[in-house]
Amino acid sequence: MNAYEMLKPWLFRLEAETAHHLALRGLELAPETCLRAVFGGPPMAERDVGGIRLRNPVGLAAGMDKNAVALPAWEALGFGFVEIGTITALAQPGNPQPRLFRYPQLGALINRMGFNNDGADAVAARLARLKGSGRWPGIPVGVNLGKSKATPLEEAAADYLHSFRTLLPYGDYFVLNVSSPNTPGLRELQEKDALAGIVRALRGHDAAKPILVKIAPDLTEPQLDAILELAVEEAISGLIATNTTLDHSAMPAGRDEAGGLSGGPLRARALDVLRRLRAGTRIPIIASGGIMDAAAARERIEAGADLVQIYTGFVYRGPTLIREIVEELKRMESA
Ligand SMILES: Cc1cc2nc3c(=O)[nH]c(=O)nc-3n(C[C@H](O)[C@H](O)[C@H](O)COP(=O)(O)O)c2cc1C
Repeated sequence: MNAYEMLKPWLFRLEAETAHHLALRGLELAPETCLRAVFGGPPMAERDVGGIRLRNPVGLAAGMDKNAVALPAWEALGFGFVEIGTITALAQPGNPQPRLFRYPQLGALINRMGFNNDGADAVAARLARLKGSGRWPGIPVGVNLGKSKATPLEEAAADYLHSFRTLLPYGDYFVLNVSSPNTPGLRELQEKDALAGIVRALRGHDAAKPILVKIAPDLTEPQLDAILELAVEEAISGLIATNTTLDHSAMPAGRDEAGGLSGGPLRARALDVLRRLRAGTRIPIIASGGIMDAAAARERIEAGADLVQIYTGFVYRGPTLIREIVEELKRMESA
C-alpha cells in the first residue's frame, strides 16, 4: 500500500472541499525532500513542446492549486508541469458551499466552485516571494486566467489583460479559460470574435509568451471548427481539450448536482474533441478530461495530444497515477 492509499480513506471521510484544503495545506508545509522520499524520484520521459522542455508529459490540471500555494510540492510529487489558477483580476469567494461532490463508483467529481481565488495581485505577490526564496520549481508553470464574475462580458478583454500583465513574469505559458461552466456567460467567450479580442489584447502587451485556449467538451462541431480557424488567424500557441462537461447523462437519478462533471464519464467525449481538433491543426494540444489510468493517457497521446493533464484521476489515485502514465508512455514509445 502506498502513502496516498493510506491517507485517502481519511481524506474521503471528510467533506470534499475540506479534504481538498487539508491536502493542499499538507503539501504546502511538507518539505520537498520528504515528498520525494515518500513518492520516489520523478518519472522521466523528456520532450520539447512548443519550445518548452519538460521532464515528462503529465501535468497537474488547473483548479487544484488555484492560488499557487504548493508549487514546490507538485514538482516533488513527480509532475512534469503544473497549471495554477484559474486566477481572476479581482479576488472572489466563488459560489456558496457545498460546491464539490465525489462519486467514487463513477470515478467522477462535480464542481461548481465559481473561480474562488485570491485575485491576480495577491497570487503575483505570492509567486514573487517564492522566486525570492529560491524554491521556485524546476518544472514549467502554466497560469490559467479567467474573467472576474463582477466584470461584464464586454469588458472581458481588459479583465484578462490585467491578470496577464500582473502574472506575466511567472508563467511559462498562459491559458485563457473560457470554458468553465460555473461563471455565468463565460463560455460565450468561446465565440470567435470575443476570443479574438482577448487574444489580441494580450498579444499586444507581450507577443512572446505562449497563449493557449482551454475549451469545453460541450462545443458543437461547427464551434470546434471556429476555434480551429481562430487558432490560425490569431496564432494561438496551443489548445487544452477539455474542461468539465455539462452533460450529466452518466449521473444516477437523484444524486445529480449542478456544476461541471469531470473524471471517468468525460473520457469518451474529451477524446472525441481531441480527435476533431487534431484533424484540423498541428499546434500543441494538452489533453484533459477523464484520464483516470495509463490506458486513457496512452489513448490521448495516440490521438495526437502532446501532453496530458490530470485532476480527478489524481484525487482518486494520487501521485502513483503520474508514474503509471509515464511508464506506459515510455513502453509505447519504445515499442
Ligand atoms: C474541483 C475542480 C475545480 C476545477 N477548477 C478549474 C479551474 O479553476 N480552471 C480550469 O481551467 N479548470 C478547472 N477544473 C477543470 C480541470 O482542470 C480539468 O480540465 C477537468 O476536471 C477535466 O479533467 P479530469 O477529468 O482529469 O478532472 C476544475 C476541476 C475540478 C474537478
